Amino acid sequence: MDTSTNDLTDQENKFSLSKISTQGAVDSTRAHLYFTIDAMSRLPFITFEGSEGCGKSTQVQRLAARLKRMGIPHLVAREPGGTPIGETIRELLQFAPQNVSMTPETELLLFEASRSQLVRETIRPALERGLCVIADRFFDSTTVYQGTARKLDPQFIERLNAFAVDDCVPDITFVLDVDAATAESRMQKPRRPDRMEQQSAEFHERVRRGYRDLAAREPNRMVLIDGSRHADVIENEIWQIILSRFPALSKTSNIEHQTSKI
Ligand SMILES: Nc1ncnc2c1ncn2[C@@H]1O[C@H](COP(=O)(O)OP(=O)(O)OP(=O)(O)O)[C@@H](O)[C@H]1O
Ligand SMILES: [Mg+2]
Repeated sequence: MDTSTNDLTDQENKFSLSKISTQGAVDSTRAHLYFTIDAMSRLPFITFEGSEGCGKSTQVQRLAARLKRMGIPHLVAREPGGTPIGETIRELLQFAPQNVSMTPETELLLFEASRSQLVRETIRPALERGLCVIADRFFDSTTVYQGTARKLDPQFIERLNAFAVDDCVPDITFVLDVDAATAESRMQKPRRPDRMEQQSAEFHERVRRGYRDLAAREPNRMVLIDGSRHADVIENEIWQIILSRFPALSKTSNIEHQTSKI
């Protein structure tokens, strides 16, 4: 078992941003389907999804580290959060004592509020500036948690998701699939349990099933990854898939860039 903790601190996690002085060119034909800025001159928008403890943050950070080593400009964002407004919403959603009385409808709208801010303030500008964007959760989380698991109207959620993200849809989404026992064993170490982690085992099972169904419905964008294996193996598989979808990435290295925190 990989015992290394790759979680960023809260402060670091807020806005991990790489700036570039030269734009990299990437030939991404699929991206063109989704994003209206010039798809031929931008790097991909990559998201990670899956239940609590499946290894999303670990793989996000491994991918970011790889891009950094290769000199590929990138930005890491997390949901909910990633902007000053979003981080306030995150605290309210996850840890604020008053959230015990939060209704599913309120929860849904808060996630979407955080997301619409993140897209317009951070993700879209970063893609337009030529950065690769990696997001630790995005709109599939709402489809699964508030839709499948909380059983809110899926068609309404689809419309709200579309409203929140506009044309900023991920080029590729990795769903890390682990069973409940594996996820639970990974969450044993001391941590601050958020609201979702306090849900029942049945809720978590619905989440897992929701992701698997969603990945089957969207095979072009979503890739289901067996998250029970060693983190190194998963990391390499993910990288090979990214390279096969975005081959120009391997040529987009050694661009002068620096990391800064806002
Ligand atoms: N493939 C793996 N094998 C074994 N342990 C792992 C693996 N991937 C991650 N871990 C460990 O499991 C724990 C949870 O991983 P991580 O924080 O990446 O999950 P997460 O999906 O981001 O969870 P959350 O949804 O709560 O943010 C961490 O201690 C991490 O080091
Ligand atoms: Mg995480």
